[in-house]
Amino acid sequence: MSVFDDAIETFLAPIKDLLANDKVSEVMINGPNQIFIESGGLIYKTPNTFPDEEALVSAMRAIAQSVGRVIDDENPRLDARLPNGSRIHVVLPPMAKNGTTVAIRKFSKEELTLKDLINFGSLSPAGARFLDICVYLGKNLLVSGGTGSGKTTMLNVLGGRIPKTQRLIIIEDAVELQIYAEHVVQFEVRKDNPKAEIKGVSIRDLVASAMRLRPDRIIVGEVRGEEALDLIQVMNTGHDGSMGTVHANSPTEACTRLETLCLIGDTKIPPDAVRKMVGSAMQLIVQCVRYHDGGRRVSHISEIVGIDTHGRYIAKDIFRWVQTGKDPESGRLIGEMVPCGYLPSFFDDIVVNKLPFPKSSFIPPDWMKKVMKEAA
Ligand SMILES: Nc1ncnc2c1ncn2[C@@H]1O[C@H](COP(=O)(O)OP(=O)(O)O)[C@@H](O)[C@H]1O
Ligand SMILES: [Mg+2]
Repeated sequence: MSVFDDAIETFLAPIKDLLANDKVSEVMINGPNQIFIESGGLIYKTPNTFPDEEALVSAMRAIAQSVGRVIDDENPRLDARLPNGSRIHVVLPPMAKNGTTVAIRKFSKEELTLKDLINFGSLSPAGARFLDICVYLGKNLLVSGGTGSGKTTMLNVLGGRIPKTQRLIIIEDAVELQIYAEHVVQFEVRKDNPKAEIKGVSIRDLVASAMRLRPDRIIVGEVRGEEALDLIQVMNTGHDGSMGTVHANSPTEACTRLETLCLIGDTKIPPDAVRKMVGSAMQLIVQCVRYHDGGRRVSHISEIVGIDTHGRYIAKDIFRWVQTGKDPESGRLIGEMVPCGYLPSFFDDIVVNKLPFPKSSFIPPDWMKKVMKEAA
C-alpha cells in the first residue's frame, strides 16, 4: 500500500465511503461535523463526521505529507492533486471559521465524449457537431464559465477531438486535464519554495518553452494570470486551434477578463492594442453554466468578431440554450440548444473542407424566431 492509500485508510476513514462512491463528484468538509457531497449536480448533506477537529487536521496533514507538501500554521492553505487524480483544497482555522475546511473534487475515471455531453443535455447534437468542426478547423477557442460549471470537462472533450496527427502541448497550474490524444506533452507549474531555494517556473515560462518545442496547438488549462498575454500572442502568431479556460460569466466578459489579465503583467503594450489583440486572437467562446437544477449546460457558443466603435467586444451567438419550461416534479429545467440565425464568418472554411454542416443548421426553429422577435 502506498503512503497515500495508507493515509486514506487510516485518516480519511470517516469519508472513505464517499470517496469510493462513483456517483459522488465532490466532497466538501466544513469542519469536523459537517460534510456535504455533490452528486448529479446537486449538493446533499451527509451523516458522516470526523471525531473532532484534531482528527480532521491530522488527516489533512497526512494527506499533505503523502504528496510531499506541508500544511501547518505557517502554510495554512493547501492546493494539491492527489495520486488518484482528485484535487484537494484545504484552509485551516483561524481563517476557516467552521473548522478545517476542505473540498475534494474527485477525478472522473471515464473518458467523456461529445456524445456523453449530448446525453447529459449539455449540448445539442448540432451544437456538438459544430464544436467538433471548429476544433478540426483549428479555431482558437476559450471555454468560459464559473467555478464548477464544467469548463475543464469541456476542454478535455474538445481536446480529444484534435486531429491525431497534431502535437499538443498542455500547460497547467496543477495537472488536471486528461486529453486522450496520441501526441501529448504535459507541463505543470512549479511553485516558489524559498526555504528549499527552489525557484518557481510559471505558466508564462512554460508557454515560452512550449513555443520552442514545435507545438501544433497549445492548451493552457486555466488562464488566470498574466500568461493570458502569452496565450493571445500564441493565438495571433499562427498556432491556430489553441485553447484554454477562463473564469467569466458571458462570452464578452470572457474577452474582457482576458484583456484584464493581459494587462496585469508589466507589458509595454498599450491597453487599446491589447484589446485589439484579444479581439482578433479569440475566435470562439464556449460558455458553460451550472444552472439551478444542477444541470451543466453550454449556454452559448459564440463567435468573437472583433471590437465595435465604442471599444466593446462583439460576440455573435451561434448557438444558445433556451429554457422553455420546468418539470414541476423533478424541478429540472426544460429547454433546448438552438441556432441563433447567425452564419459564422468562417462558414466558407466549412464548405471548402467539405464538412457536412449545411447552412440550414444555423437557422433557428420557428418557435425560437417568435421568442427572439418578442425579446427584441
Ligand atoms: N456537462 C456536464 N454534465 C454533468 N456534469 C458535469 C458536466 N461537466 C462537468 N461535470 C461535472 O461537474 C464537476 C465540475 O466540472 P469541471 O469540468 O471540473 O468544472 P470547472 O472546470 O468549470 O470548475 C465535475 O464533477 C464534473 O464531472
Ligand atoms: Mg476547471
